[in-house]
Amino acid sequence: MALNKKIEELKKRREIILQGGGEKAIEKQVAMGKLTARERIINLLDRNSFTEYDLFVEHDARDFDMDKKTLHGDGVITGTGTIFGAPICIFAQDFTVAGGSLGLMHARKITKIMDHSLKMKVPLIGINDSGGARIQEGVNSLSGYGEIFFRNTLNSGVIPQISVILGPCAGGAVYSPALTDFVFVVDKISKMFITGPEVIKTVLGEDISMEDLGGARVHSEISGNAHFYAESEAECFEQIKKLITFIPWNNLQKAKKFPPKEPKPEYRINDIVPGDPRQPYDVRDVIKAIVDDSDFLEVQERWAENIVIGFGRLAGETVGFICNQPLVLAGVLDVDSSDKAARFIRFCDAFNIPIITLVDLPGYLPGVDQEHAGVIRHGAKVLYAYSEATVPKLTVILRKAYGGGYIAMASRHLRADFVFAWPGAEIAVMGPEGAANIIFRKEIATAVDPEKMRKQKVKEYKQKFANPYVAAARGYIDSVIVPSETRNLLLHAIEVSGNKSVYLPNKKHGIPPF
Ligand code: HXC
Repeated sequence: MALNKKIEELKKRREIILQGGGEKAIEKQVAMGKLTARERIINLLDRNSFTEYDLFVEHDARDFDMDKKTLHGDGVITGTGTIFGAPICIFAQDFTVAGGSLGLMHARKITKIMDHSLKMKVPLIGINDSGGARIQEGVNSLSGYGEIFFRNTLNSGVIPQISVILGPCAGGAVYSPALTDFVFVVDKISKMFITGPEVIKTVLGEDISMEDLGGARVHSEISGNAHFYAESEAECFEQIKKLITFIPWNNLQKAKKFPPKEPKPEYRINDIVPGDPRQPYDVRDVIKAIVDDSDFLEVQERWAENIVIGFGRLAGETVGFICNQPLVLAGVLDVDSSDKAARFIRFCDAFNIPIITLVDLPGYLPGVDQEHAGVIRHGAKVLYAYSEATVPKLTVILRKAYGGGYIAMASRHLRADFVFAWPGAEIAVMGPEGAANIIFRKEIATAVDPEKMRKQKVKEYKQKFANPYVAAARGYIDSVIVPSETRNLLLHAIEVSGNKSVYLPNKKHGIPPF
């Protein structure tokens, strides 16, 4: 056959495969408000940057009439491309082909691109739109998931792994995302569950809709499985692109440096935190008063809102923020906020991103619910993650830092490199009221006017301990600073921490309180 004819044949073959699951299935996909798998990749990556591999891969299943079925591309598209010039490996499951279900060859396409991403040391983005293990392929599908989970774990901490949930994802289709660093969901489109409504109805006799079981809001507000929530696929892709600008390609590099910019003048740092320690404020305003261009990318914005985490830049360099949020539950640490903080600390540490901690909390949340939910175990994750992290750790105590909360939030004792405190900082074992009630119990009880005595003792305690100077006198904090000095001091601290190296004992790995 002449080369021209062979080229024609290639084009025809390509054309057929590019039709995915066919017109009807695509119509159904579009009717659900979803883009096709190929459109998603094209919309996410830089223009004309996508190169596809394994277009001609076919399944070889024989049971349940599978030998009579052609599944184009075996239901998944894989390839490489760029986002703002950064190289990316990507796969997108095609729901129009057998519901994006994962058979053996489908899995092999994914594991092949995962191996590339590890070898080439570039981020991996997985767009998940799949009914899970392909039922007709039995244990071969399960083996496929096992191979993916293994690679997710192997790649963890070497390259950033990003999962996008853009359809009804069940079973294995959600465990792989759970092993990755960031999960993106879209309202009304994303569904994540291990067992679907039908199984729940059969086993438990309960009726629940897919949305209420595992919709985008459920996972970004209740379960904490998702890190970014968007109203549309287009908004979701913008979020992913923005995240890519903040993180490095791999654990051997730093994130790309941007031209430095001053914060916006409307964020006046001296005016944000009220003097009264019981009055709330939004810690995000403090972050925006510190970071370049007041540009802060919040992660898990809707879950465990008593802690705020996310990325910003200082003099163009990416930094990760972990901050108590006095606006919600007075910024306490509890089960969920501990999990949220600990995981983010580990991401920053793995990818050479300095950590800035802004402290204002009354401690760990007391109560039977929290104790029974394992606040000891979950809270310990924060201690572990901060202690283990070797990236530059910079801490600013804005106001309250009581008890375990003081220690946990990147204190000097967990090896923060620089600790600054604002003049209104109160560093003590507990709040003045609680402390006075305990240590002056007898004096208060036997006083002629117990209430007057209580107030006097609270005042005495405040004068003695509820300030930053006792900690400063011991060198636990390095400097008491005016709020408006914060940005410049952090810039300097980052600059002098550029070559930080620490000694760690040899070990295979630690055993964090997972
Ligand atoms: C084979 C599947 C499939 C699967 C969907 N399809 N899931 N084929 N294996 N797991 C096929 C359907 O048969 C249908 O084919 C097409 O995909 C579209 O599916 P619909 O059901 O028509 O779509 P929809 O109504 O939108 O429902 C989507 C869905 C539902 C919620 C995902 O299909 C579903 O519940 N699927 C099964 C989910 C599940 O239990 N998976 C196994 C998980 S166990 P046709 O030819 O009719 O178009 C697992 C093991 C790993 O993953 C666990 C690791 C920890």
